[in-house]
Amino acid sequence: MNPSDTLVFFGATGDLAYKKIFPSLQSMIRHGHLNMPVIGVAKAGWNLQQFQARARASLDEHGGGADPAILQKLFSMLKYVDGDYRDAETFKQLRQVMGNAKYPLHYLAIPPSMFATVAEGLAHSGCNHGARIILEKPFGRGAKSARELNATLLKYFAEDAIFRIDHYLGKEPVQSLLYSRFANAVLEPLWNRNYIAAVQITMAEDFGVQGRGSFYEEAGAIRDVLQNHILQLIACMAMEPPAGDGEPLRDERAKVLSMVRTLSPADVVRGQFIGYRDETGVARDSTVETFVAARLAIDSWRWDGVPFYIRTGKCLPISCTEIAVQFKKPPQHVFREANIGRCNHLRFRLSPQVVLALGLRVKKIGEAMAGTSVELIAQRHPRDEMQPYERLLLDAAHGHSAFFAREDQEEQAWRIVDPILGNKAPVHLYTPGTWGPQEVQSLLSAGECWFDPVSEDGPPPA
Ligand code: BG6
Repeated sequence: MNPSDTLVFFGATGDLAYKKIFPSLQSMIRHGHLNMPVIGVAKAGWNLQQFQARARASLDEHGGGADPAILQKLFSMLKYVDGDYRDAETFKQLRQVMGNAKYPLHYLAIPPSMFATVAEGLAHSGCNHGARIILEKPFGRGAKSARELNATLLKYFAEDAIFRIDHYLGKEPVQSLLYSRFANAVLEPLWNRNYIAAVQITMAEDFGVQGRGSFYEEAGAIRDVLQNHILQLIACMAMEPPAGDGEPLRDERAKVLSMVRTLSPADVVRGQFIGYRDETGVARDSTVETFVAARLAIDSWRWDGVPFYIRTGKCLPISCTEIAVQFKKPPQHVFREANIGRCNHLRFRLSPQVVLALGLRVKKIGEAMAGTSVELIAQRHPRDEMQPYERLLLDAAHGHSAFFAREDQEEQAWRIVDPILGNKAPVHLYTPGTWGPQEVQSLLSAGECWFDPVSEDGPPPA
């Protein structure tokens, strides 16, 4: 496979480029991973100097400070094309600026509504020859539009040249989760409906929409996070062992998603934090969800009857992504203890720290045969690890697609959420700083409770 020889990114003056792409380029240079021209494309009426200034500001704000030597190298690689994506002239100019590039990598960091237009522009100008294309999520707005978009892309690019990005798959802790699952044979006998009572996934953020009100009005938590990040986490947790670590990883993720039952409005609770409607770009009567919780089921031999509970939202008590696997309780209460809560669990914290914890019951010192819950914890604080966008850009530049979504996965993911898009389920208000609306309790079966992640410094879960 030929490595890409030019990186072209559309949406070069936008939010994603500012927060994630420039910092990733800096890390790639630092790690010796970037040795090709980088062409930014946008419609801002800018010149190269203004574009470079934007890169510098991005590194200052989001890249831990611009490193002068790296910045100089980055500037020597940067080129800029200013133009409208609907204008053939923009692509003609791009073709010229690309010079002798044979294997360009086009990264569409733009709203999904423009994907087809840019793909067509690339094709009509010949910029798609030998090229790979990366598309940001969300990939479409629903099952139908995703299918149409796939059909358009496949006219101009082969499936193995299309990279649908979900940055969660590029996260070190998510890859570590996959590793732990399949590098520890001790887990496999327990990893099924015979031993697991339920799985809970919480992806919580303690901040609001951070000025992205108009984006959020279009997306909402279901399209923004559930359809992609959360379903990919479920796929990593629930998939069968793959035959190897390349395409088989995608085969297994797609297979397990195809067995996730389609959601209905009764399976979800949508919430909106109080104050969202006052954000810029948000309708005063908006019914868009900033929180969603759901109960999912997987119709497979391994998972039949095991609920997968998920929650994600803005303005929750802490920022944290955590997966808790609850094991079944002992079949007999030998010691007749009341309210022992959760007995055994495996807890994978993916952020802000990386934690793998095994929850066990141990006896309290004393006369009584009574116990308490403890966790055996392996914990690591993120250090100089590769950031998801750096890893994924690098993978795409080498044609490695294992950590990107394939067409069939995207279609399955939209199939799962399609019936709950829009206002099919009512939206309930919640107070910022709480775990969402009260109604989330209704998703759980009798005797179950949500296990709220606590901050690193707080007490371990009871
Ligand atoms: C993005 C969503 O895809 O993921 C954001 O658009 C969300 O709304 C973000 O905040 C979370 O990513 P991370 O890496 O900070 O957990």
